[in-house]
Amino acid sequence: MIPESFVQELLARIDIVDVVERYVPLRKAGANYSACCPFHSEKTPSFTVSPSKQFYHCFGCGAHGSAIGFLMQHAGIGFIEAVEDLASSAGLQVPHEERNRVERAKKAPLTELMARAMVFYREQLKASPKAVDYLKGRGLTGEIAAKFSLGYAPDGWQGLQQVFADYNDPALVECGLVIVNEQGRRYDRFRDRVMFPILDQRGNVIGFGGRVIGEGEPKYLNSPETPLFEKGRELYGLPQARKAIQEEDTVLVVEGYMDVVGLVQSGVENVVATLGTAATDANVQKLLKQANRVVFCFDRDSAGDRAAWRAMEVSLSHLADNKLVEILQMPGNQDPDEFIREHGREAFVRQTRSATRLSEFLLRELVKQTNPSTAEGRAMLVHAAKPLLQKMSAPILRVQLTKEVAQRAQVSQAEVEAQCGLKPLARSRYAPAQMKQRPIPSSVEYKLLQIVLHKPEWTARLPLELIDRDRVEGEALNAIADAIDHGELPAGGFGMLLEFFRDTPHEALIAAIAANMVEEVDLGALEGMFNDSILRLRQTALTAEIEVLNARAKQEGLNADERKRLTELLARKRPGPPSTSGTPI
Ligand code: UTP
Ligand code: MN
Repeated sequence: MIPESFVQELLARIDIVDVVERYVPLRKAGANYSACCPFHSEKTPSFTVSPSKQFYHCFGCGAHGSAIGFLMQHAGIGFIEAVEDLASSAGLQVPHEERNRVERAKKAPLTELMARAMVFYREQLKASPKAVDYLKGRGLTGEIAAKFSLGYAPDGWQGLQQVFADYNDPALVECGLVIVNEQGRRYDRFRDRVMFPILDQRGNVIGFGGRVIGEGEPKYLNSPETPLFEKGRELYGLPQARKAIQEEDTVLVVEGYMDVVGLVQSGVENVVATLGTAATDANVQKLLKQANRVVFCFDRDSAGDRAAWRAMEVSLSHLADNKLVEILQMPGNQDPDEFIREHGREAFVRQTRSATRLSEFLLRELVKQTNPSTAEGRAMLVHAAKPLLQKMSAPILRVQLTKEVAQRAQVSQAEVEAQCGLKPLARSRYAPAQMKQRPIPSSVEYKLLQIVLHKPEWTARLPLELIDRDRVEGEALNAIADAIDHGELPAGGFGMLLEFFRDTPHEALIAAIAANMVEEVDLGALEGMFNDSILRLRQTALTAEIEVLNARAKQEGLNADERKRLTELLARKRPGPPSTSGTPI
């Protein structure tokens, strides 16, 4: 856990304009900055960054958020990683729990060793005609080799001695570059191999894959698991693919290093690889964060078929109804690299377009396994579908699948649901994330929320007792007032406000409202609207009380106090509520 106070300190210290500018060239446009949106394809800029609000917003695709949110979305990383990244650029130390700090302190020198090894291997590649010829023979240009920082580990037991003066440094063993044998002799893990550096999302080298040149065993030698490198979590090629993935809103997942590099060489750039393992939960989560569509490409052999089934199973638990997962089984006996080299980019792209949707793949495989032309087969179908349907996290797609299974098994949907112990939709784990009630933009609470997002401190002047807390807008207003009241919410624009309410029930509404308010406002006009809105609140309360008293007067009559109160109220009531619909904020 990172303390909230640190997140605020961090946001106060950095400028969102600098953060965005690291990735996107910005042009000044009035008080704000604008650019073509990095999150969708466009020709005219609709992406706006507001320095005063420390907030970005795209009028085209609706992306918006704080500097932290920008980094998360742009780099496809998690909250903690984004905070760490920004903190290190601002020279701040993230106050983690003790254990994390120790771990991180341990990692830093290892990362540095790996980086030096990568530079060495790259230089060695230039000096090795044999390795260069091998890569050329596989159709790679120098440009692509440079893009992936490909290298060559020379043929000798202690080549790395040329880079590391202290070859006995235990850190070299810890990061997997050097092996110690039983006699205590040290030697390079990678010898006479073409080297594929594996980068993490921030571009640090965390491991290597080394391919034998030509024939030999093992074909690929990989870094062992180290403090830096956890095979099942990483995706090869992600930093290089990020931009293309965003442009296409699709990420292709292949099985091998050479598939990634070969596809990129042929002009398909939105591609990453799992590292010689079947897709893991961590992989799929990361993939679904990068794009709304994930296409797994597998070789058409028995290992590939098993891997496809596994990818389907793992994806089920991470799906959402707005995400697509597809399975592409490469035709013939070719892997993606071989296919694209023989048939070209167009043919490969056509293949990816006709990939099998996850639900279709699941049904097809189940039917294949169980043969529902007999009663036993149909029973088996439901039985086999059970764990899969239970895993499925996209509620609407699950209903669709349940119906399909029911139809093929010749039973009712309700019977499948009962047999599989499926909870009804409303109780699915995605329900709480949604807003419990629709906000009404014409409500006075909504208007006030728009205003206090500009000036949170004004909540101190709100007649909170008149605010309808049954409305989501009212609740959010109240939460902001509360935070101000307790001195928890420093001034710092929407960005700060949004981060304060991250992972709370108010986040979605506040983000939605903030998204439409990047333009500068005139403070005088804002204050006028604020006062108008308060008046409207009071008038509404007044009218309601008058109505109650009038109704009572008609039915049972009023006592003296009540009559006095009614006269007072009527006197205070103005001809009509002032208009608050004026200029948009
Ligand atoms: P493949 O055997 O399909 O190799 O392994 P490839 O990607 O087609 O490689 P080329 O085209 O022959 O050079 C797929 C992935 O499995 C892992 C590697 O990550 C490889 O990219 N693998 C394979 C190993 O880790 N070790 C091996 O010995 C073989
Ligand atoms: Mn291959």
